[in-house]
Amino acid sequence: MSGPPSQIRLLLVEDVPQVAQYVRGLLNAQQAIRLIDVVTDGGRAAAQVQQLRPDVVIVDWLLQGRTKGARVVEVLRDGGLHIPVIALTVPQSPVEPDPAVGIAAVISMPFSGFELVNVVNAVHQAASSANGTSRSRVVAVFAPKGGVGKTTISFNLAVALAVQGQRTCLVDACLQFGDLRSLLKVPGDAPSILDLPTDRIGESDLADVLWRDPSGIDILLAPPRVELAEMVSVRDIDKVLSLLRRVYEVVVIDMPPALGDVSLAILDATDTILEIVTYDSTTIRNTLAVADAFRAIGYPAGKIRYVVNRADSAGGIAPGDLARALGRAPDHAIVSDGKLVMQSNNEGVPFVLASPDAQISRDVAMVASALLEAPAPAAARR
Ligand SMILES: Nc1ncnc2c1ncn2[C@@H]1O[C@H](COP(=O)(O)OP(=O)(O)OP(=O)(O)O)[C@@H](O)[C@H]1O
Ligand SMILES: [Mg+2]
Repeated sequence: MSGPPSQIRLLLVEDVPQVAQYVRGLLNAQQAIRLIDVVTDGGRAAAQVQQLRPDVVIVDWLLQGRTKGARVVEVLRDGGLHIPVIALTVPQSPVEPDPAVGIAAVISMPFSGFELVNVVNAVHQAASSANGTSRSRVVAVFAPKGGVGKTTISFNLAVALAVQGQRTCLVDACLQFGDLRSLLKVPGDAPSILDLPTDRIGESDLADVLWRDPSGIDILLAPPRVELAEMVSVRDIDKVLSLLRRVYEVVVIDMPPALGDVSLAILDATDTILEIVTYDSTTIRNTLAVADAFRAIGYPAGKIRYVVNRADSAGGIAPGDLARALGRAPDHAIVSDGKLVMQSNNEGVPFVLASPDAQISRDVAMVASALLEAPAPAAARR
């Protein structure tokens, strides 16, 4: 079941079933926070956090078993995910909040639902503003099918956002077969995401590896060779995206069609998934399969916006059929313009600049405006 986009996703590390049940009961009465999982074994906490990417974690400080509460907190602090941790304790074992230890706040049994919601909200908000997440939007252009227009749309959308005054970065996340290098005709030795330092990345490191395109956007390119793609880890992606959020107002990501660890980490960290669909039965079937996967992961429906590309090329599938298959009307439509798209892609010049009055350019500009009109993400990572 998914909730509103701003819902805080909470993970509880708790080995006492009665306490877990108590927390669950308190949260049942409200919508702002969703308990996504209870991990009973401290040794599994870090892996679950890595996989589920909650917004806040509560750890029972008195956790028994091989991995005690304090150790779980330490491991989460060192994991580099920057997810705030609340220590749950009892009055007989007082604990102090201490960012150096990795404890953002403490809650002591017994507590009311009001207290619980307040403390979770407070640490979430503090972490969000520290990450700078409330200022920027991260948009992933995705489709579970190749060749539907992801690269064409993400490039032109990023430029359209820049035209509308947004400081915009485009990330080529097709790490194996990144198209932007050839589209933009960048030199073979132009730096990529792999040239960033692996541990501490600063804004100046970022400036050194970005390609500054004449169209007014900055681009983080994919590695220059296929076999280098696997050197990019989930941790690298998390670090890069949180830094980009601090520097740019909008980050647009050209996604690969497959869902692996790295692409899921990117989708977790995005505010909006612009999912490209076309009037093609295999694309529609894959889109439905992915919708199931996204629901299972817990992405709220509002995180996904469907964009019909080549919307005037229905090819036997009626718009009503597409909407019925998706379970809702698509959010945006972009027309087909083979001649302009081919010419602009061949020249590496975005059509939104070359022919701003063409219908396809106006359609992309409308997607950009709609993204900016939506309320800035309340720092929700999902
Ligand atoms: N609206 C459109 N009108 C006309 N042609 C289009 C349109 N959108 C995309 N195309 C064309 O479709 C082809 C595929 O587009 P693109 O490379 O952007 O897709 P992709 O989803 O990024 O593909 P891949 O999965 O290979 O990365 C290109 O030749 C492009 O010129
Ligand atoms: Mg592409």
